Amino acid sequence: MTADAAVELTPEELQAGLTAEQLRTLVGLVEYDASTDPFPVTAQDAVVFVVGNATQTAQFYQAVFGMELVAYSGPETGRRDRKAFVLRSGSCRFVIKGGVLPDSPLLDHHRRHGDGVVDLAMEVPDVDKCIEHARAQGAVILEEPNDVSDEHGTVRRAAIAAYGETRHTLIDRSRYTGPYLPGYIAKDSTVVRPEGAPKRLFQALDHAVGNVELGKMDEWVSFYNRVMGFVNMAEFVGDDIATDYSALMSKVVASGNHRVKFPLNEPAIAKKKSQIDEYLEFYTGPGCQHMALATNDILTTVDVLRSRGVEFLNTPDSYYDDPELRERIGKVRVPIEELKSRGILVDRDEDGYLLQIFTKPIGDRPTVFYEFIERHGSLGFGKGNFKALFEAIEREQDRRGNL
Ligand SMILES: [Fe+2]
Repeated sequence: MTADAAVELTPEELQAGLTAEQLRTLVGLVEYDASTDPFPVTAQDAVVFVVGNATQTAQFYQAVFGMELVAYSGPETGRRDRKAFVLRSGSCRFVIKGGVLPDSPLLDHHRRHGDGVVDLAMEVPDVDKCIEHARAQGAVILEEPNDVSDEHGTVRRAAIAAYGETRHTLIDRSRYTGPYLPGYIAKDSTVVRPEGAPKRLFQALDHAVGNVELGKMDEWVSFYNRVMGFVNMAEFVGDDIATDYSALMSKVVASGNHRVKFPLNEPAIAKKKSQIDEYLEFYTGPGCQHMALATNDILTTVDVLRSRGVEFLNTPDSYYDDPELRERIGKVRVPIEELKSRGILVDRDEDGYLLQIFTKPIGDRPTVFYEFIERHGSLGFGKGNFKALFEAIEREQDRRGNL
């Protein structure tokens, strides 16, 4: 079977110039039989954020992350209470929302959580089928299936509750040709790409991680298994990702073809406060911790982001000089010195390897951050790097006085 036969590209992916083979490498797709899936998912539709200042945040994602502004909704389009900016990079879509009127519920959300993710929306071919299955499995339906239309056509949508105040909107946009959703107008970028800058710094969303309370991870794994028919991927428990002072447990669920991947973390008991506890305290509850953005050139991505002021977690030199690590990672596409000078981590498993790096939190609260990932066959999440990573995160946590 060819890759193209197994992977059907969405209009967004086609528009981004991606091929099935590129997408397969970028986000680690696998073949699967959709005909027996009780909750078929086509792709991640959007990551929807609520932030304190959507206008400036949208500029940040354009000027720094190199995303393109494609659509807008706000007072000028008849929505007096809020502004929403839709941004794209490759097949990855972010929607940035902020409250305009003082009594906007978005501002209440922001007061509780700070800048954060409210919706991990998924494109599905059959909204009603998914909701029927989700309801039978006990999911909380936040929005019943309904049609929303404008001159560009009709979308069918619904929403189910996930961890904390996070939701999954399900969208069938097969009968819709507008720039995002009814109510949005097309809008061009307000930021001009600097001369010589890469066309984009990432091509797709690889995974979105949820932090949940102590003892709740297995409940949420079971939720995604039962409600969405997601399969369990790699599993990290206990010592794998424990340091002396903090620990966490992590399991990963994914849609049948791995197009949508949700790692779920919970704190584990350790001598001091875990980074997951810090998140739960400052986000005031469970929520989305990091998004991993897939790039095919992590060196350039990191160089450009750093030149634009993005701060990454430091990796100790010892990580690269360690003979065991050199032995474990074997040969990768660039000299290890190139990775060391940028702080890029390497991990290898039986399928291949991956390169990854993590930013510091991007908002005021020590909550949401990003990962950039370049996959070369590996379908993992950097298990071998967890310890090195968490030691680096803890050094930052200690500096904030929260360890
Ligand atoms: Fe990750």
